[in-house]
Amino acid sequence: MEQNFLKEHNAKHVWHPMAHPAEMMANPPKIITEAEGVEVIDVDGRRLIDGVGGLWNVNLGYSCDPIKKAISDQLEKLPYYSIFRGTSTGPTIRLSEELSNWFKEDGLTKAFFTSGGSDSVETSLRLARQYHKIRGDKDRTKFLSLKKGYHGTHFGGASVNGNANFRRNYEPLMQGCFQIASPYTYRNPFDEEDPEKLSAFCIKALEDEINFQGPDTIAAFIMEPVLGAGGVIPPHKSFMPMVRKICDDHGILLIADEIITAFGRTGALTGSRLWGVKPDLMCIAKAITNGYFPFGAVMISSKVSDIFENDKSSFGSISHGYTYSGHPVGAAAALACLPEISKLKVQENAASRGDQLLKILEELKAKFEIIGDVRGQGLMTAMELVSDRKTKKPIDKETAGKVFEGAYNAGVLVRVSGPNVILSPPLIVTAEDVKKIGDALNEGLKLASN
Ligand SMILES: Cc1ncc(COP(=O)(O)O)c(C=O)c1O
Repeated sequence: MEQNFLKEHNAKHVWHPMAHPAEMMANPPKIITEAEGVEVIDVDGRRLIDGVGGLWNVNLGYSCDPIKKAISDQLEKLPYYSIFRGTSTGPTIRLSEELSNWFKEDGLTKAFFTSGGSDSVETSLRLARQYHKIRGDKDRTKFLSLKKGYHGTHFGGASVNGNANFRRNYEPLMQGCFQIASPYTYRNPFDEEDPEKLSAFCIKALEDEINFQGPDTIAAFIMEPVLGAGGVIPPHKSFMPMVRKICDDHGILLIADEIITAFGRTGALTGSRLWGVKPDLMCIAKAITNGYFPFGAVMISSKVSDIFENDKSSFGSISHGYTYSGHPVGAAAALACLPEISKLKVQENAASRGDQLLKILEELKAKFEIIGDVRGQGLMTAMELVSDRKTKKPIDKETAGKVFEGAYNAGVLVRVSGPNVILSPPLIVTAEDVKKIGDALNEGLKLASN
C-alpha cells in the first residue's frame, strides 16, 4: 500500500534541510499528503490546522484556486523560458508592472527576479556592492546585520546571518560581515528590558560599529523588519526608522529582508511600511506565490536603479542571475496571488488574529512555568521555552519536542526551532482556528511540563 511504502522509506534516502540525517532516520518526520483550507492531512488521514503556514509562506491557505489555475494554464501555454539578455516572457513583464505599483508606497519600482528567498538575499548583497562600485565608491564592500537575524543559506546570506547554528558548520564565511546586538528584550548584552531604551542602545552599538569599521567601507545594512527564524523578535517602532537615518547619514544602503514580512504577515502589507521606512532594496519571496511555486525578487528603489540605468561604464551590467529568474509559471502564480491578497485584505486579519494569538500565549505563560517569553507582531508569534525562568536556561530539545507532539496529537501543527515554538499560520485563519491553536498548545505544554 502507498501509505506503507511512504512510511517504510521515510527519511531513508533524503537528507532533510535543517536536520541531522541520523536523527531523521531514528525519528522520521510526519508525512503530509494533502491539504485543504488552513489544514493539512497526514499519511494516516489525520487533519491538522497548519500553525506554521507551510514555512511562513502559505498565507492564503491551501485552496487558493485562482493561483492553481494560473499555474496550470501557464504550464500549458509556456512552461518555461529564460529572461536572460535577449528574451523575456509575458507573465514576467506583467508581474514587474504589478510589483512596481504594489511597492510604490515603499519607494521600490524595479524588480530583479529570483527563485527564492536565499537567492533574493544574495542578489541584494551583490547589487549593493555593485551600486557603490558604479559610483566609484569602491571600498564599500562590507555588510552589517543583526545578531539573531536570518538571511537564508547561500554563503552571502549565511555570512550576514546572526545565529551561530547556521554559521558554525560552514565557516569560514565571507569576510567583511559584522553583526550588532538585536533589539531582543528577553536576552541582550545591555540587560535592558524596556524596548525603547534597548532600541536606542542597539542603535548606539550600530553607530559604534560603523565608526570602527569606517563608514566609507560599508556597502549595506541588512535587516528583517521583524526578525523571524531567530525567534520572532519585533523591534520597538523607533528602531528601523533610526537605522534608516544612520544609513542615510553614512551613505550605507538599507536592505529590508522581507522574505517573511512582505505581503501582510506583520499586519501591514510590508514590514518596512509597518515602521514607516523606505528601504533601498527589499528581498521578497515565499508568499508572493502563496508558496505554490518557488519564486522571489529583489525590489529596487529609484535611488539605486538610477545609478545602474545611467551608468556609462562597464560596472552597471548585471553579471548575476538564475536559470529560473522570472520563471513564467512562478510569475503567473504571483500575478494570480497579488489580487487575492488585496481582495482578502489579509494584513487586516493578520493584525487582529495575531493580537488574539498573542493574548492566548500570554495566558499560557501565566499557566506554564516553562514559557520564558512570548512575542509577536501580526501573525508572526513565538514562545521561548526555558527550564528555569530565573536563569533563563533554554529548554532541552527533547522537552521542546513534546510541545510539538502534544499539539500534533491535539490536531495542530506547530514549529519547534531550538527553544522557540514558532507560530505563523495562514493569514486567513479564523478566530475559531486561533482558539484551536491555543487549545492544542495547552496540550503540548502540559505534556512538556510533566
Ligand atoms: C528573512 C529570511 N530571509 C531569507 C530566507 C531564505 O529563504 P529561502 O528559504 O526561500 O531560500 C528566509 C527563509 O525563511 C527568511 O526567513
